[in-house]
Amino acid sequence: MGTMKRIAVLTSGGDAPGMNSAIRAVVYGANKAEIEVIGILRGYEGLIDWETRAVTIDDVRNINNRGGTILYSSRSERFLKKEWREKAAENLRKNQIDALVAIGGDGTMRGAIDFQQEGINTICIPGTIDRDVSCSEYTLGFDTAANTATDAIDRIRDSSVSHERCSVVEVMGRKRGYIALWAGMAASADAIVLPEKWDGNFDHIIETLKQRHAAGHDSYLVVVAEGVTDAPELAELIRKKTGIESRVSVLGYIQRGGSPTAKDRMYGSLMGAYAVELLNQGKKNQVVAIKNDLLVSYDLNEALQIANNELDSFQYELSLSLAE
Ligand code: F6P
Repeated sequence: MGTMKRIAVLTSGGDAPGMNSAIRAVVYGANKAEIEVIGILRGYEGLIDWETRAVTIDDVRNINNRGGTILYSSRSERFLKKEWREKAAENLRKNQIDALVAIGGDGTMRGAIDFQQEGINTICIPGTIDRDVSCSEYTLGFDTAANTATDAIDRIRDSSVSHERCSVVEVMGRKRGYIALWAGMAASADAIVLPEKWDGNFDHIIETLKQRHAAGHDSYLVVVAEGVTDAPELAELIRKKTGIESRVSVLGYIQRGGSPTAKDRMYGSLMGAYAVELLNQGKKNQVVAIKNDLLVSYDLNEALQIANNELDSFQYELSLSLAE
């Protein structure tokens, strides 16, 4: 057995399906190594205010199928300031916590990077529907969110066909377009508007829709990542320039909720178990990641250097050619 006696686990940032599986695997892994696990409530906020709950095997046995996070989540403004990070570190030391496992997205990882200065060993697990943690090919929740969005768009398509309309569907992913790309491709969109590729020019989309209208198509679909452009404005533009009746659907938080897919449960379990494994090996300040479909880990500072703000170019090119 190692020297570790007690660790803490938290979830931070936007909740993501699969977070519960990661918590569960951390608890199971720790239990095997005779390490006690303290659950921190509401992410870094709970670390500052020391809001906790015990997470025993009994607490997590049947949570794989539950969306959201049993530990609650928040985006902590206070944790951005050193004084509050010091308070959080003091709480951890006072309660004899040897290490922290933080499950969340980009913001959570940045918080953990700053937290290193306070001497707390933190292992991060990438959990966000946006798939925007650059060092990892996968982030927990993406698969569920992409499937939920696809299912919702399929339903919208049924109505769109019946009324021979154009549907402009806004999906989540402010900075990364993977949800839009995957759900858009899966639902055979006529156009997909992505933050990484957006040049502010609607002409190509309008031209495509005009041609399809002339060719007698019975429905049209434009998938837009949130924050790129104003969806109602785009729908109005389509109506004006093409004569096609257009409607907007904003999918919103349904994409964050719901029972995780098998992939998110599995990857949550793998990543949670691996985080404990890293701690057992005496590793410090790491990010669990997926590379070439295998579990790997990066030093927190090194992970930050792996800046990859590009979409997979093959997937992107394919989305264009399949929408032609
Ligand atoms: O978790 C990621 C995400 O859902 C983004 O896609 C979205 O921009 C953001 O969170 C919304 O966050 P909030 O919960 O603060 O409204």
